[in-house]
Amino acid sequence: MKIAVVTGASSGIGREFAVQIAGKYGKMDEIWLIARRKDRLIELQKELRLPVRVFAMDLTDNEDMNTFDGFLKENNPDIKLLVNCAGYGKTGRFDELDIYEQCGMIDVNCKALTLFTGLCLPYISNHSRIINVASAAAFSPQPGFNVYAATKAYVLSFSRALNAELKSRKITVTAVCPGPVDTEFFDIAGEKDMKLKYSEPSKVVTKAIKDAALGNEISVYGVTMKMAETAAKILPHKLVMKVFNSK
Ligand SMILES: NC(=O)c1ccc[n+]([C@@H]2O[C@H](COP(=O)([O-])OP(=O)(O)OC[C@H]3O[C@@H](n4cnc5c(N)ncnc54)[C@H](OP(=O)(O)O)[C@@H]3O)[C@@H](O)[C@H]2O)c1
Repeated sequence: MKIAVVTGASSGIGREFAVQIAGKYGKMDEIWLIARRKDRLIELQKELRLPVRVFAMDLTDNEDMNTFDGFLKENNPDIKLLVNCAGYGKTGRFDELDIYEQCGMIDVNCKALTLFTGLCLPYISNHSRIINVASAAAFSPQPGFNVYAATKAYVLSFSRALNAELKSRKITVTAVCPGPVDTEFFDIAGEKDMKLKYSEPSKVVTKAIKDAALGNEISVYGVTMKMAETAAKILPHKLVMKVFNSK
């Protein structure tokens, strides 16, 4: 049985991954949907034309992670595709935001993603794919989105190194680095900046799935974000930070 696992499947980009994987990604037998909001996952389950298993769990909760680990051990699945999409961001200066909310970003975006990958990895067979949703915020430090950008720089760095480490097993890891995407992300992050252009989740996900299939290390959707990636590579970060400075 070939399994696809998607975290953050209850909304936005993760939900779109589940829809597109069930619709067109090479012959999966089952898809596992992971997030805290069970009602949303069950609603999605009804829409997908693929057997679905719902795991309503908090990725930062040790007990939930232990239960999931136990399930893996008991069932010994063949995971062909893992999409780590769960995450959140909070805009604002470090000295103005709630410190626990900021550390929560590290817990979900970094620790949970790392732990979940580590738990799944023994069951990910050769020639499989891992997709980690980072962000264009990973390209450079970002005043006004400080901790979030740092967590996504971690995801990008972790993904690239893991991609190199897993080459011998022909498992590729693709870090997805979108700019602003039109999702519920901004319900938590803070109000949408109407000067920015928001991409559709479907386009970001189609590109990410294509890049993962090609074995690409990074997936960047859209000309503006590609320019941001290049700028962050060639220009001093002091200068790039001025452009990105949102607060
Ligand atoms: N939207 C953007 O502009 C944008 C740009 C670049 C990167 N990203 C990244 O894309 C990813 C998806 O974001 P999105 O835009 O799709 O936002 P979203 O619609 O708010 O989705 C976030 C998902 O993460 C899940 N999640 C959050 N905390 C969790 C936890 N503790 N345990 C389990 N699941 C948890 C949420 O599910 P529950 O609440 O049901 O648990 C939800 O399914 C994030 O990693 C985000 O950083 C977003």
